[in-house]
Amino acid sequence: MRLATLTSGGDCPGLNAVIRSIVRTASSEYGSTVVGYLDGWTGLLEDRRVDLYDDEEIDRILLRGGTILGTGRLHPDKFKAGLEQIKANLADAGIDALIPIGGEGTLKGAKWLSDNGIPVVGVPKTIDNDVNGTDYTFGFDTAVSVATDAIDRLHTTAESHDRVMIVEVMGRHVGWIALHAGMAGGAHYTVIPEVPFDIEDIVKATQRRFQMGEKYAIIVVAEGAMPKEGTMEAAEGEIDQFGHKTFTGMGQQIANEIKRRCAQDVRTTVLGHIQRGGTPTANDRVLATRYGAAAARAAHEGQFGSCVALHGENIDLIDLSEAVGTLKEVPIDRYERVVSMFG
Ligand code: F6P
Repeated sequence: MRLATLTSGGDCPGLNAVIRSIVRTASSEYGSTVVGYLDGWTGLLEDRRVDLYDDEEIDRILLRGGTILGTGRLHPDKFKAGLEQIKANLADAGIDALIPIGGEGTLKGAKWLSDNGIPVVGVPKTIDNDVNGTDYTFGFDTAVSVATDAIDRLHTTAESHDRVMIVEVMGRHVGWIALHAGMAGGAHYTVIPEVPFDIEDIVKATQRRFQMGEKYAIIVVAEGAMPKEGTMEAAEGEIDQFGHKTFTGMGQQIANEIKRRCAQDVRTTVLGHIQRGGTPTANDRVLATRYGAAAARAAHEGQFGSCVALHGENIDLIDLSEAVGTLKEVPIDRYERVVSMFG
């Protein structure tokens, strides 16, 4: 068999571990070859590809962050208009199955290709952990570890200066990174996109800490967090070509409000792409390796239109339709159980 893979959407620690695992499994278990398309769907459309060999070079990418294939975002209209070209390119390269690695948007594209007759097995990735149908996506553990390390460091400088520290973490639509890093880092308040915040609650929790004699407070804010209607003015972002609102710095806006309302010394740290860069954690390497091997096996078994997924301890195959359509949000009751520890 001849497999093809590509990485699409935002990069994520563990992508290279998946690529390595696909190549090694295909080669060692089936004697198959693998092609990598460059820069996501665009490379597939423009037929830019490289042969991936089961050699020392591929072996060493396990630890490497980013993606050796490059990544990108392609507008869905351009992608759909290119169907015949994609089919022709895959046929020319002698590809028997395609393994796209990406988040919800990429998997939506993968499902569409599958519905249009292309043999596809998806691999879910995102640091945000928001893909449905799987317990965890690789990259999330790394992002949480990076954010937790940053919060750990902020505790000591916050304490030394009697300050409120706001830590803005990634999470456009969901607050998994904020929730987990907040819990692991002992944050005194965590704000997630799923639950619009009331600035008054944050200010009260912060003031309570100082009144009780505590010297500082750490507040974790997911970048996509929004205030409850009528509670606080928030800057509006612009809409980009993919329909995403650009961020306006919710962490800093919350900092400004705290400063204005309770005259505390406040500083903001935006972690941004630091959470996405660098080497994956051991957990992410393991999950990515298991995903890659399972996807290569599924392709050889002809299990097309599927997506690999983690359920408890097991890697299963789900229908691609399960992975797309809605995002996996933080359940409200899960967040509320953490709220009692704020302050
Ligand atoms: O989807 C993962 C993610 O890291 C989001 O949390 C974030 O909003 C987005 O990607 C940023 O992507 P970029 O700046 O690369 O467009």
